[in-house]
Amino acid sequence: MALVEHERSLAVVVHGGAGRVDPATWDDRVAAVVRARDAAWSRLASGASALEAAVEAVRRLEDDPLFNAGVGAALNREGFAELDAAVMDGEERAFGAVAAVRDVRNPVELALEVLRSEHVLLAGEGASRFARERGIPACDPRELVTERQRERWRRARRGEAAERSGTVGAVVLDAAGRLAAASSTGGMVDQRVGRVGDTPLPGAGVYAEAGLGAATATGHGEYFARALASWRAVLALRERDPDEAVRHALNEVERLGGRGGLILVDARGRTAWAKTTPEMSVAWRSAEGEGAQIGDEAWV
Ligand code: GLY
Repeated sequence: MALVEHERSLAVVVHGGAGRVDPATWDDRVAAVVRARDAAWSRLASGASALEAAVEAVRRLEDDPLFNAGVGAALNREGFAELDAAVMDGEERAFGAVAAVRDVRNPVELALEVLRSEHVLLAGEGASRFARERGIPACDPRELVTERQRERWRRARRGEAAERSGTVGAVVLDAAGRLAAASSTGGMVDQRVGRVGDTPLPGAGVYAEAGLGAATATGHGEYFARALASWRAVLALRERDPDEAVRHALNEVERLGGRGGLILVDARGRTAWAKTTPEMSVAWRSAEGEGAQIGDEAWV
């Protein structure tokens, strides 16, 4: 698609989680990440900041019950969803996150409110109270539970192999050269109540640094947290190109025993992504081109 002049410096990458999912859902997953990418791009093209565009993309995937975030999130050991989300703006290295929230449909919006506050991370009941203070209404936790996730949860409880796909995310470069990343997740199916993975931890699930890049991760959170995977990918841009930078970070995660994926945009608008799982739904757009993929073949 032809770009008008002011779009030449923009870049967006969106993912809908790494893992292995029902192939019957591939078309819908790819269509959804493309729509989220295009929504972020439209916001950028009409002057929104990288942070606003990244939140827009993630909010759309939270609203889609196919993805493990917001409505449709994975269920924990007791059969309800506990949500984590984070946003980071590379300009001021501003970070906001929430963890183990049970009654918010769009935790990425709550993470943005945390970023705008004096805090970095709010969890559980305190995060819910903060949401009310900021005008974000409570939802019935049952609204977050889908039949697909209930079935995954039953299978996991029986010890059967369940479909695994975790976390949604977006990284963005805007026309002013600002970099941002956002992510949201229901964590791992059948996880211990109160378990929190990499997503809301700065540098683990999400990282952005002015002049360098923005990255966000999906996968087995304990390993991505130990590897500080998103920070590692962005810092690697000092001596590696974007493709090498994401692989470098994923290699460290794999060395520790974990698998998943990473997406990245650098300060020059170059995009990259990589996975160590069979699938990751991803869509990208920049001056270099656009595309989408879920397995190993390019989709569009
Ligand atoms: N990567 C999401 C999690 O492990 O919770």
